[in-house]
Amino acid sequence: MFEHIPVYPGDPILSLFQDFQRDPEARKVNLSIGLYYDEAGKVPVLPSVRVAASRLAAQETAHTYLPMEGSAGYCQALQQLIFGADSAALRERRIATLQTVGGSGAIRLAAELLKRYFPDSAIWVSDPSWDNHRVLFSAAGLEVHTYPYYDPLTNGIRFDEMIATLSGLAAGSIVLLQPCCHNPTGIDPSREQWLAITELCAKRGLIPFLDMAYQGFGDELADDAWPIRAMTDAGLSLFVSNSFSKNFSLYGERCGGLSVVCPNQNEAARVFGQAQANVRRMYSSPPLYGSQLISTVLNDAALARQWQADVAVMRERIKRMRAALKTRLDALVPGTSFDYLVTQRGMFSYTGLSPNEVGALRERRSVYLLRSGRACMAGLNDANIDCVADSIGEVLKARINRYQPVRRFSDA
Ligand code: LMR
Repeated sequence: MFEHIPVYPGDPILSLFQDFQRDPEARKVNLSIGLYYDEAGKVPVLPSVRVAASRLAAQETAHTYLPMEGSAGYCQALQQLIFGADSAALRERRIATLQTVGGSGAIRLAAELLKRYFPDSAIWVSDPSWDNHRVLFSAAGLEVHTYPYYDPLTNGIRFDEMIATLSGLAAGSIVLLQPCCHNPTGIDPSREQWLAITELCAKRGLIPFLDMAYQGFGDELADDAWPIRAMTDAGLSLFVSNSFSKNFSLYGERCGGLSVVCPNQNEAARVFGQAQANVRRMYSSPPLYGSQLISTVLNDAALARQWQADVAVMRERIKRMRAALKTRLDALVPGTSFDYLVTQRGMFSYTGLSPNEVGALRERRSVYLLRSGRACMAGLNDANIDCVADSIGEVLKARINRYQPVRRFSDA
């Protein structure tokens, strides 16, 4: 009966993580999926979340249904965190926000709305982008294209080419942008560049879609959300998906949000209602527990301060690991620049390692990176960093040797 169903080749991130979990090697290192590990190599329960969990346990609240849009306290706190407590758009009640099943759920929910109400629009994502962006948007029936983004030669953004491509798009085209800690490259536009993108979107009537999964991992929370606030303040209508998986270390609780900034309160109410209807069509309502943890933390001033400190600890540890890996690789492979490790921001570094080199790291040392060469810096710690540096150094030296011209006796 099911013979006609094709074999699933697996997901480039989630299936690799399963391979890692099955690997019996004791010294294996996971730099593949975006998981933050602490110095002891554990995915932490944040101190702020621990307090919230014990408060909830003491309250023994019933495990009832949330409404289709999720918890009101969660959505309100989420809005303030992303748009700022003093946001004019929030005051004007023109942002429709729903709690979603993680950041992926937010993107898929938005994609369904976009396909239904902007059926002729295509979406443009950066080249490269998070693998699942393409999957989520095309599953909803949207055509997915790319705009130029990463330049391996300069380790920067091909900004002029990006702007040239976006300038040629039809009005109503959707442009996926990442406000901070770009996945997979770790390279973000400068504020000046963001302003140019904002102006372009306004002039050409493009629909910005900002996907933020790492707020607080690049800089302070408000700084990382700055591009969203700048676009909102410029009067654009836009989509924002966000995930709390990383900055609350609540991966499996699937806590995210979709916010749609609208021109006025009336349109926001319509968008909100149709988003509710979409949720009902797909999964009825989001899960309860993670949203209770997050709203307990964010709606208590002292706990919210504790959480900000928790995020700062994660951010600073990642930065320290980036610098430590650079120091080691500078010594091991002189003549090669590893500056990218400290200029890229957030969890990920784009190492430029080829799929074969990534394969060699896995086979020889059980060090797991994505096939694209993306490495999660938050998987490094003082105990595994020498092994990682040695193994990367080894493949890079092999690459350099391969490209050395062969010396003949007659050259001597
Ligand atoms: C990642 O990029 O590794 C994370 O966002 C996890 C995921 O779902 O892919």
